[in-house]
Amino acid sequence: MPAIARSLVAVPLLGILLPLPALARPQATNAEQAADAAVKAMTQDEKLSLLHGFMPMMIAPNRRPADAIIGAGYIPGVPRLGIPSQRETDASLGVANGLGMRKGDVATALPSGMALAATWDPALLEAGGRMIGAEARAKGFNVMLAGGVNLVRDPRAGRNFEYLGEDPLLAGRLVAAEIRGVQSNHIISTIKHFALNDQETGRATADVAFDEAAMRESDLLAFRIGVTEGKPGAVMCSYNKVGGTYACENSVLLNDILRRDWGFRGYVMSDWGAVHSTGALHAGLDQQSGEQIDQRRYLSTDLVSALAAGRASMGDVDRAARRIVWAIREHRLDPAPPALIPIDYAAHAEVALAAERAAIVLMKNAGKLLPLSPQTRTILVVGGHGDLGVPIGGGSSAVVPVGGLAKAEPVHEGAAAMFARRAWGGTSPLEGLRAAFPAAQVQFLDGSDPAQAEVAAKSADAVIVLAEKFSTEANDSHDIALGDGQDSLIERIASANPRTVVVLETGNAVAMPWLDKVPAVLSAWYGGQRGGTAIGEVIAGQINPSGRLPVTFPRDTAQLPNPALPGSDMPPAGAHERALYGVNANSPPFTIHYPERADAGYRWFDRTHAQPLFAFGSGLTYSDFRYDHLTVSGGARLTIRFAVTNIGTRKGIDVPQVYVTRSGVARRLVAWARPELAPGETRVITLTADPRVLSEFDGTHRRWITPPGRVLVELSRSVADPVLHASTRLTKATYRP
Ligand code: GLC
Repeated sequence: MPAIARSLVAVPLLGILLPLPALARPQATNAEQAADAAVKAMTQDEKLSLLHGFMPMMIAPNRRPADAIIGAGYIPGVPRLGIPSQRETDASLGVANGLGMRKGDVATALPSGMALAATWDPALLEAGGRMIGAEARAKGFNVMLAGGVNLVRDPRAGRNFEYLGEDPLLAGRLVAAEIRGVQSNHIISTIKHFALNDQETGRATADVAFDEAAMRESDLLAFRIGVTEGKPGAVMCSYNKVGGTYACENSVLLNDILRRDWGFRGYVMSDWGAVHSTGALHAGLDQQSGEQIDQRRYLSTDLVSALAAGRASMGDVDRAARRIVWAIREHRLDPAPPALIPIDYAAHAEVALAAERAAIVLMKNAGKLLPLSPQTRTILVVGGHGDLGVPIGGGSSAVVPVGGLAKAEPVHEGAAAMFARRAWGGTSPLEGLRAAFPAAQVQFLDGSDPAQAEVAAKSADAVIVLAEKFSTEANDSHDIALGDGQDSLIERIASANPRTVVVLETGNAVAMPWLDKVPAVLSAWYGGQRGGTAIGEVIAGQINPSGRLPVTFPRDTAQLPNPALPGSDMPPAGAHERALYGVNANSPPFTIHYPERADAGYRWFDRTHAQPLFAFGSGLTYSDFRYDHLTVSGGARLTIRFAVTNIGTRKGIDVPQVYVTRSGVARRLVAWARPELAPGETRVITLTADPRVLSEFDGTHRRWITPPGRVLVELSRSVADPVLHASTRLTKATYRP
């Protein structure tokens, strides 16, 4: 029985006996037997050597193990037992080399997580994961620190570009697919950062107020889906505290929720510099990562002393070692680093291109300005370093794309200045537009002289303005403005030429004060290896856009649950805080409260009846789709059936979405489809709602409950654009946590 079915087995409810197949304890698997045997055969030192890793680049070359690769981390193996060393690389968007640690090493850059989420396509995420995992293995790595899935709660948070949006079902389904893809290469993927590390300010010092039911129905639901459907070999616990206890020594998170409730069988590794005690081992942590940047070697020298003093148990050591070996065996890691495997970068670039083609969201297209006619004679391209490449988000996920970086600048402010940089690479939008309009004269201006750009705009047939905003690990943005004078540049250009298109290349939702003056807006996010190609193809109509927003675009920050980002009023951390809380401390301690509770993103806008600038799930295409014949059936499972017809003149992909509301509960996404239809083609689609999203978490009895009663079902183009309605009754059901 798959894990998910097992965890959804209904339990007897007040004497109403629901079908209750016996919960067979899973048969011991080969991996389990192998792990038991290995741990039995290991010496204490060998077991302990698995429980802590280090950063190879911080080890002198003459002391570095021969098979260590300059990357995120290294844990020695036990060669006599055929246990390979663990060679770790970042991250969710490709084999990272963000600091240029491996001189000259490049990799295929996937589009950003936000872009991947905008595809709403698990198959694309799985293909992307398969591709980056293949490159990781080809480069000698066997653990990929991928699977970033923290929920987007605030559009100022610095790492949202890495993550998969604001909805737990969408994010969970997509991260599970990416993890499956990565692990199809017989390497281990993580899922991270567990849990509630939803902003960078205070990432190592903040305590997230823990409201279990709210978190189970939001952030933890995304992780639950990712863990049970993706089956990552490892979970990376996060820097922050949750409910007063650091996540990496939080037994409620690691032992109760992750293992007891979700049945997770792999191991928990810490984030880099996220360990604060040896007691973390007993609380559910199995491996201290990058131990040089923690204050102490908690799971190595300190653990040896603790064992000798009877303050730690070998049982905990055995358990951790067993989990690590289990994951190595379960995912069939190569016993030794594979011989050099050639990488087909051209084929891999097509995978990145396919993702970005599906990621671009056509947000506005007044007067059907787009696609531009192939006869367009002169196109002016302005700003966004559009002649260099597409933006690359800052921090540990940063990939140096094939072809290298076109430009890199240091980050000057905040904690990111220590290790991140702002960079551009991949196919540039200018290159992409010139390829898409071979007969046109395509001119580029960098936008540094708005007056010059305004004059040039007047005489062009069309103007493409690239509007970018940098996002990075370790720093949050102060606001949601584009900044750098881009808003006024766009205003001037739009006033000079009514055929102006704005292409957003941002890591988050941004404000658009010029929106009424601009007829067409695309969001291309950080487009990855072939980002510029996809931008050109969509503007020229060679690709029919199909992206849908995975996040809400607010009008302004006053609409947010926390109008001021939590901790944004705190002073930056000093040496004192870093000495107390670790090198990643970027502020003194404070507590983060989420007034939205489970209702992150569009659910908050639903609750507050606020009108965002652009709604979750929205996106236009060059086709048009009609929905008919919506029928729903309730009972124990909600089933939705409807027909989609392409009433446009060209083939296109639609993303019909199903939302459910119940009295007093904010609208929730319960299912979606992504049919590609030829003109005139009709497809009948049947979906079943994921019961976890329909349920509420009962913390007292630790179970999910689908309350009985009537539910309203909406078949929608976005959360704010319901097309057909139906209602039905659901019977009460309870599910294991
Ligand atoms: C970083 C990140 C984590 C990354 C790790 C290794 O600080 O939080 O996502 O995988 O360290 O680079």
